[in-house]
Amino acid sequence: MKLTLKIWRQKNAQAKGSMQTYSLDGVDGDMSFLEMLDVLNDQLIGKGEEPVVFDHDCREGICGSCSLQINGEPHGPDRLVTTCQLHMRKFNDGDTIVIEPFRAKAFPVIKDLMVDRSAFDRIQQAGGYISVNTSGNTIDANSIPIEKEDADESFNAATCIGCGACVAACKNASAMLFTSAKVSQFALLPQGRVEATNRVLNMVEQMDKEGFGNCTNTGACEVECPKGISLENIARMNREFLSASLKG
Ligand code: SF4
Ligand code: FES
Repeated sequence: MKLTLKIWRQKNAQAKGSMQTYSLDGVDGDMSFLEMLDVLNDQLIGKGEEPVVFDHDCREGICGSCSLQINGEPHGPDRLVTTCQLHMRKFNDGDTIVIEPFRAKAFPVIKDLMVDRSAFDRIQQAGGYISVNTSGNTIDANSIPIEKEDADESFNAATCIGCGACVAACKNASAMLFTSAKVSQFALLPQGRVEATNRVLNMVEQMDKEGFGNCTNTGACEVECPKGISLENIARMNREFLSASLKG
């Protein structure tokens, strides 16, 4: 395949960025999207030009770092996959592909296609954990009976990889789907109930402080989420928040 790539280039957080056009030949349908960018970067380095900076780590849909806006969609045109799992067979010979960083005030661009998503880390640090006494009297988690349905829903919420596609997809740059997944994975389990009140209040407060927008129920986040995190988590977080506010 021969492709035209329109890629956002930005030297650093302060510089003004712009779209640059590149022509790339010999792209194989079995390449992943990131491998296609590797080929482009090899060619740029060969010509003595700066390679395109983009985030990646596991390249198997686990770490959540490969965050690219491809033709206007976070993680591109495929469903339930991350950018590293997207294959070039989803595109056609002669296509023009527009590649941008995830855009949100709370995700400032570091360079080119790489954004700073440490706002998510700070939301996690505000309450995305449980405190367990490890003095030797710890109760084995498997000895606490949990309804199968709750265990499954908690596990589903825990599959959120913190990629930020939900924020990039949302016209309000809301982080409600991410935060609600992190609240839900604990809210559904007895181990998580101990700190549930403070957890939801602190995590929502941090989310607001970071400058993410509000949820207006467009559902774009759920459509673009590579892990299929459900909007039901947002409803659960809202219930948790209301009950915590009344207690507080
Ligand atoms: S909810 Fe989905 S889209 Fe949002 S950070 Fe988690 S995995 Fe990514
Ligand atoms: S590089 Fe880890 S999820 Fe894509």
